[in-house]
Amino acid sequence: MLSRRSFIRASGGAAAMAALPATVARAKAAAPELVAREDAVQLLPPDYPETSVWGYDGQAPGPEIRMMQGDRIARRFVNRLPQASSVHWHGLRTENAMDGVSGLTQDAVPPGESFDYDLAAEDAGTFWYHSHNRSAEQVARGLYGPLIVDEPTPPDVDRDVTLMLDDWRVDPKTGQITQDFDAPHDLSHGGRLGNFISTNGEAAYQLPVRRNERLRLRIVNAANARLFTLGLQGLDGWLMAYDGMPVTSPEPVPETLTLGPGQRVDLFVDVIAEEGEEALLGRIDQSKGYVQAAFPVSGSASTNRRPAPDPLPPNRTPDLAGLADAATLRLEMSGGAMGGMREAVWKGASRNAGELMENSQFWAFNGLVGMTETPLARLSLGQVARMTVVNDTVFPHAMHLHGMHFRVLAQDRTPEPLRDTLLTLRGETHEIVFAADNTGRWAFHCHMLSHAASGMMTWIEVT
Ligand code: C2O
Ligand code: CU
Repeated sequence: MLSRRSFIRASGGAAAMAALPATVARAKAAAPELVAREDAVQLLPPDYPETSVWGYDGQAPGPEIRMMQGDRIARRFVNRLPQASSVHWHGLRTENAMDGVSGLTQDAVPPGESFDYDLAAEDAGTFWYHSHNRSAEQVARGLYGPLIVDEPTPPDVDRDVTLMLDDWRVDPKTGQITQDFDAPHDLSHGGRLGNFISTNGEAAYQLPVRRNERLRLRIVNAANARLFTLGLQGLDGWLMAYDGMPVTSPEPVPETLTLGPGQRVDLFVDVIAEEGEEALLGRIDQSKGYVQAAFPVSGSASTNRRPAPDPLPPNRTPDLAGLADAATLRLEMSGGAMGGMREAVWKGASRNAGELMENSQFWAFNGLVGMTETPLARLSLGQVARMTVVNDTVFPHAMHLHGMHFRVLAQDRTPEPLRDTLLTLRGETHEIVFAADNTGRWAFHCHMLSHAASGMMTWIEVT
């Protein structure tokens, strides 16, 4: 197995970065703007050229949007991009009309126009926002940012740190994002993987800490397709929440932790590295370890570690009492390279593999490719659904349900913690259960955005 002391720095990433992203609460003025536009940022290490990204307010990741649980998020989204766009608030159980899914809950906002988002932040936790139009391209260009909803009573930590992990596909000579967003090989295999990895848009993120300081790490996988397998060194603590939803009893952070695209974890960790050392969040890739975020230790917050934390206060728990007579659903994922999909229904007609490929479509849910006129399921408000999710492909997928969180049923049928995104590896079958407690049309898709663009996209209607 992997040594936890084996994290090495990616080449070119060794230079220390001086500027740290400030954690700034947005002013509570009425409907501030969130402007999508093109801008140049220093995404790559300092000796590389700047990269022109599509960001929110000129940044990639976009500005932190932060509010208190129960408050409303009001933003005038202004589109100054050359393409239509929309904003999705990933993981928030909120009003359907504000969910930001172009083609399902709203029309995409054309260039030069705006859209007023106003939605409730019912749940406290770690969420994120991102483009939900042509997202395989737009998220890859930088249109995403952190969305943090604070608990009314702040938990007992010294520092609250959001770490958005991403990879970028950039031509190292020009520093520009390569525009091969629908390369058939990416669509039909593991999705668009980048060649530069960042934390909060920085090639070598670091944050000075003190020994025995307790950090809340909010880790978000914002990548198009990459799985991040993470480990800690010089940090020790508890896993507090998955996908924004607190666990009922915090458990020690496991040796390695894998996040699929769209997934998040909240950790409370204490700095146990000695003064003068560096604590690390590392990434395991092809069995090698790399530094994903560095925490140089100077000074000490206290002489001893604190006791184990209390759990975070729970968010509203979906009512799964109707599980015994739940609606039974099935989602069979097929296609992709080596998947042998010979034909499938796309836009209402049966197509063979060649026709699908010509239209850049490679994947199917239950034999249906992409958005359909009718939803995968119609559920009535309050109904409980149990879905068997079968990954009959040779790739991992990260299935994201909008508007509601679900639980995986473990082998012994016990429900696991609430999540909004299910990582399913090749050949796996999972049972998930959820309460259809939010009315509207909810997208349900693979968060490997190239897969969503090439067939893995459907929806569920709750009436
Ligand atoms: Cu984070 Cu439908 O997406
Ligand atoms: Cu997928």
